[in-house]
Amino acid sequence: MGQTIVLGVSGGIAAYKSAALCSLLVKSGYDVRVLMTKNATNFIQPLTFQALSKHPVVVDTFDEPNPSEIAHIAIADSASLFLVAPATANIIAKLAHGIADDMVTTTALAVQCPTVVAPAMNVHMYGHPAVQANLDVLRGRGVVVMDPGSGPLACGYTGKGRMPEPDDVLFVVDAVLSKTATLAGARIVVTAGPTIEDIDPIRFLSNSSSGKMGYEIAREAVARGAEVTLVSGPTHLAPVPGARMRYIRSTQDLLAAVTEAMASATVLIAAAAPADFRPSHRLPHKWKKSQGVPSVELVPTPDVLSTVAKSRAPGMILVGFAAETANVVEGARRKLEEKDLDLVVANNILDEGAGFAVDTNRVTFVRRNREVLELPLLSKAEVAARILDEVSALMHRDNES
Ligand SMILES: Cc1cc2nc3c(=O)[nH]c(=O)nc-3n(C[C@H](O)[C@H](O)[C@H](O)COP(=O)(O)O)c2cc1C
Repeated sequence: MGQTIVLGVSGGIAAYKSAALCSLLVKSGYDVRVLMTKNATNFIQPLTFQALSKHPVVVDTFDEPNPSEIAHIAIADSASLFLVAPATANIIAKLAHGIADDMVTTTALAVQCPTVVAPAMNVHMYGHPAVQANLDVLRGRGVVVMDPGSGPLACGYTGKGRMPEPDDVLFVVDAVLSKTATLAGARIVVTAGPTIEDIDPIRFLSNSSSGKMGYEIAREAVARGAEVTLVSGPTHLAPVPGARMRYIRSTQDLLAAVTEAMASATVLIAAAAPADFRPSHRLPHKWKKSQGVPSVELVPTPDVLSTVAKSRAPGMILVGFAAETANVVEGARRKLEEKDLDLVVANNILDEGAGFAVDTNRVTFVRRNREVLELPLLSKAEVAARILDEVSALMHRDNES
């Protein structure tokens, strides 16, 4: 029998998705023990989970079928991972405050294993400061809180609040339980995508960064057990399951988001392509063709990596990217030294299969000791893995020194 997932189901519309999740976990080889709140049984019958998990479902804490043990302690002791999906606003509050008045929350206090929470609720409930504060309390305790998905909600609103898809929850469960969690304990901030600098309400300056490289790094870092914040400019990519998503628009926004995220991070991997210039003024109204060609004065945007590097905490690892069109290694060395980085991932964006918008990349690592390592053409997922191998090596070097 595989590892045991204790799945707590609370009373939200998304409880039906939890049946698909239960089935997927079982198919993936996990032994699943389901606990439900009484309110969850208004949405879905325990029998469904019993049939899918092949175990009885416990709803009532005082339903003690086996006199030789106390059910919630025995179940808690058997857990390799405690998963609450969907997690209502109510159960999140109870978990944050240590309330134990039903089977799910009582067991939550007794488990000794990692806990993963998949919130699902109305967009306004999710945005409520009480809910956000409770989620922060859980994160602070090491609970893995998944970002809900965005889209149409059962309540009729559109926004953030959908329970993460079963595949994405499985990805996070596998990551947390991974035996190869080489980055467990690392708190990694990854930046990805372009930034946008507005000229007027409809026109802007930007670049063709797709964000793919940064998203692959974030995904691989989650899979290796890291706690990941992904600060993303506008892209067409789906959120990375298990990463804390922070969406930004301008380079100034990027700096603010990275500075905030860095307060508790150990590694920054700056794969975003921030705009280096912005119009000195954003025109309040659309510039009309009849007004002639506008003259747009450009001013520099803040240098995010240099700014962060100056205030880095001791031991923090900084990885930069250098997109060059010539003299790649020299450009990367200069960037590494000027910005005081630990590693620069350089590429010639004119090379076939490298750079923006494609699924492959051909990169060269330039390390602090001036060592250069040229990698062959690889998928961005493979490049992400190699970058995180470097980060792991840097972390272990720092731990040993
Ligand atoms: C139709 C319906 C749908 C609901 N959906 C949600 C939901 O998606 N998320 C949520 O946090 N609460 C939702 N609620 C409210 C919870 O059911 C309510 O807060 C309840 O006390 C949660 O109990 P539990 O956390 O013990 O399961 C819903 C209520 C109703 C009547």
